[in-house]
Amino acid sequence: MKLVLIGYMGSGKSSIGQKLSSVLNYNFIDLDSEIEKTEGTSIPDIFQHKGEIYFRKKEAAVLEDVVSGGDNAIIATGGGTPCYGRVMDDLLEQEDVITVYLKCSVDTLTDRLFNQKEHRPMISHLDTVELLNDFIRKHLFERSFYYNRAENTIVCDGMDEKEVVEKILLSLF
Ligand code: S3P
Repeated sequence: MKLVLIGYMGSGKSSIGQKLSSVLNYNFIDLDSEIEKTEGTSIPDIFQHKGEIYFRKKEAAVLEDVVSGGDNAIIATGGGTPCYGRVMDDLLEQEDVITVYLKCSVDTLTDRLFNQKEHRPMISHLDTVELLNDFIRKHLFERSFYYNRAENTIVCDGMDEKEVVEKILLSLF
């Protein structure tokens, strides 16, 4: 089985995914890290030198690769992964794949992201909390159409990572 975590930047996909993988004894795959490995450079560098369209094609191809691997795995996607091309359709069509949306409010995401936006090319230019909050509100509205197609949705506001992991486990088994 593959558990694919989706959700906006800052929703906790990587850290929750890591914790979940040790509880379930599954492999953990972080899609952004996989892309960085195959490209031999960082995500901001890919955006800067090759552009977003190149990145989106790459992330869809790397996801297809890791999802088709044989072992049980938790896969943490990037915030935009399910929102381009046929990525969400393909995930939903596969029987051994379960999609989980880690849902956070705009204010939770703004709080988490303001101090860690430098390495995130989509938001690194937003200098004030107000600008970031406005950007996330619009961006999340556009992306929610894709996120809401996930088979499971976990509302994460006000919960620590352990509680989110428990909630995911309860929703699965
Ligand atoms: C992106 C999110 C990032 C990374 C890239 C683009 C996005 O991943 O894939 O910077 O479009 O939301 P995280 O959600 O892990 O920050």
